[in-house]
Amino acid sequence: MQRQLFVTTALPYANAAFHIGHMMEYIQADIWVRFQRMQGHTVRFVCADDAHGAPIMIAAEKAGLTPQAFVAQIAAGRQAYLDGFHIAFDHWHSTDAPENHALAQDIYRALRAEGLITERVIEQFFDPQKGMFLPDRFIKGECPRCGTADQYGDNCENCGAVYLPTDLKNPYSALSGATPVLKESRHYFFQLSHPRAVEFLQGWTQTPGRLQPEVLNKISEWFALGDDGKPMLADWDISRDAPYFGIRIPDTEDKYFYVWLDAPIGYLASLKALLGAEFEPFLADPRTEQVHFIGKDIVTFHTLFWPAMLHFSGRKVPNHIHVHGFITVSGTKMSKSRGTGISPLRYLELGLNAEWLRYYIAAKLSARVDDIDFNPEDFIARVNSDLVGKFVNIASRAAGFLNKRFDGRLAGHSQAPGADEGRALLAQLRESGDGIAQLLDGREYGKALRDTMALADKVNAYVDQHKPWELAKKPELSAQLHDVCSTCIEAFRVLSVYLKPVLPALVERVERFLGVAPLQWADAQQALGQHRIGAYEHLMQRADAAQVAKLFEAPADAAPPAAPEPALPGGQALAPTIGIDDFSKIDLRLARIVKAETVEGSSKLLRLTLDVGEGRTRNVFSGIRSAYQPEQLQGKMTLMVANLAPRTMKFGVSEGMVLAASHADEKAVPGLYVLEPWPGAQPGMRVR
Ligand code: 2FM
Ligand code: ZN
Repeated sequence: MQRQLFVTTALPYANAAFHIGHMMEYIQADIWVRFQRMQGHTVRFVCADDAHGAPIMIAAEKAGLTPQAFVAQIAAGRQAYLDGFHIAFDHWHSTDAPENHALAQDIYRALRAEGLITERVIEQFFDPQKGMFLPDRFIKGECPRCGTADQYGDNCENCGAVYLPTDLKNPYSALSGATPVLKESRHYFFQLSHPRAVEFLQGWTQTPGRLQPEVLNKISEWFALGDDGKPMLADWDISRDAPYFGIRIPDTEDKYFYVWLDAPIGYLASLKALLGAEFEPFLADPRTEQVHFIGKDIVTFHTLFWPAMLHFSGRKVPNHIHVHGFITVSGTKMSKSRGTGISPLRYLELGLNAEWLRYYIAAKLSARVDDIDFNPEDFIARVNSDLVGKFVNIASRAAGFLNKRFDGRLAGHSQAPGADEGRALLAQLRESGDGIAQLLDGREYGKALRDTMALADKVNAYVDQHKPWELAKKPELSAQLHDVCSTCIEAFRVLSVYLKPVLPALVERVERFLGVAPLQWADAQQALGQHRIGAYEHLMQRADAAQVAKLFEAPADAAPPAAPEPALPGGQALAPTIGIDDFSKIDLRLARIVKAETVEGSSKLLRLTLDVGEGRTRNVFSGIRSAYQPEQLQGKMTLMVANLAPRTMKFGVSEGMVLAASHADEKAVPGLYVLEPWPGAQPGMRVR
């Protein structure tokens, strides 16, 4: 049966470039979409920038831009990543586009007509220093559920709880640091606690196939009964007071939808921009399956609020929510706000092959919500052994003989002695197609790739057994040579079908080399016959450790001026003037160098163990090896930036930065000098 799919990935906030976590989600969804398309299904695959909300408004103000201009600037950078990693969205939109304004207001009006919107005067945190109501993201404190410190005012990154900012323990304003005070304001609520809403959501969440078991398990908490005998599910505050960058609530002057109300509506807006007049019929068509790929941190929004918004505004509900875990880099967790880890754009700029990352991520993914890890050594080993060693190798071994000896023509149904063996091998490859398809459809990519590579192993074993290079030496065995090489090419084509959702660009080159039309899933079942292949072109390079290591080095700063201007102090113009507020953001501390060591594999770095008076030591990598021997530094006091976000490097995590002075043109005026305080200074003292 032909499926009709509407697929989305979570809409990224339009205030930062993509990090590897975004790319993992896009790659996961893109593989699924490409697989469905190869099956002949219709897929509309869309995304958009999540443009609204106070954090973006505040960031725009800081940048001296209107929110619209700020968001446009971020949006302009998206395509390079999407093209670079072969992400085949049909459309990329913005939640600030007119379609979204109209849809959000329509949906709200429908919910109001259903009697599910109430107004209540609530007390809300107000920053007395800034003179404004504090947006959720700018109130921090301890999670009321799990107690984790420094959590934002709307949901907890640690346990996923969603709550009111006023529920936070020990709150403070992230804008000014002031303790916020409570002030009254009229707010609008979507009544999720209404028995109709609870009943609907219980039914929707428990419908088989909607949610992964562990996700269902997690959100069931919301239906548990509280002390008052009612489900824990609370009404949802959907309004924010001006000033706010968002969509105006109908029939109000100064109230806006909370960004999380209009964000998922952006899925529909993007689809509408893509389909035009076809949008309503496509969305309402009972055959259309709506599928959202999201991360585990935004489950509540997608499994409770969003289905209820759709249902009570008279629309079809989502069919599947596919939730994935986070990606760590060498075991270090990244967070949205800190975004440590490797930069996808740098990956591309370094000339690393996007499909290595697609393959590696796919090999680690399953249908579960588990986190996965990017480990550089494992990455190199996996790519080289599987993609180059097992897969590409099959074609390169066979194509030369076919082209040289048989004018590139495949043997077709061979009568050569032993030809049955080749046919049996191919039959086995073809029979595995359904199983692999099921795994890909079920997002068990890791298993699908393991099965595919096990088939590749069989093909390589067949080659090793039949030794075409030996057959080639004996003219009387020409028919066998022709048969073995043809079997290899045919096997390679079948494997290419199975790998195409993961490796679309590589398989496009394969299609050119084989001289075949774009491969569909069903093509694996049909033999090519006496087809003529083209010249073999090199399909994939091996991943190189030195190249991958560059991913973890700090990118070189802007090149120093060619001829240093003598009038400039230290060879460099002074940076623009800053205020004391800017300076005080940098927490400079005195540190004792407890240990200094060289780092194996790096000619630039020293590994420093620093005591910053915290009752523990810190690990910091510093690029000062050219200037100091470890023993010169051990025991000395120095100066460090203590609140720099931890950075994952190839050798481990660096928890801060030791300061050193140098001339802007280090070649012209060599020398690198670490700083040392006067005697008597103690570790942990702040420099101001
Ligand atoms: O968590 C986030 O990054 C949100 N911008 C995701 C929104 S998904 C959808 F609802 F728009
Ligand atoms: Zn928590």
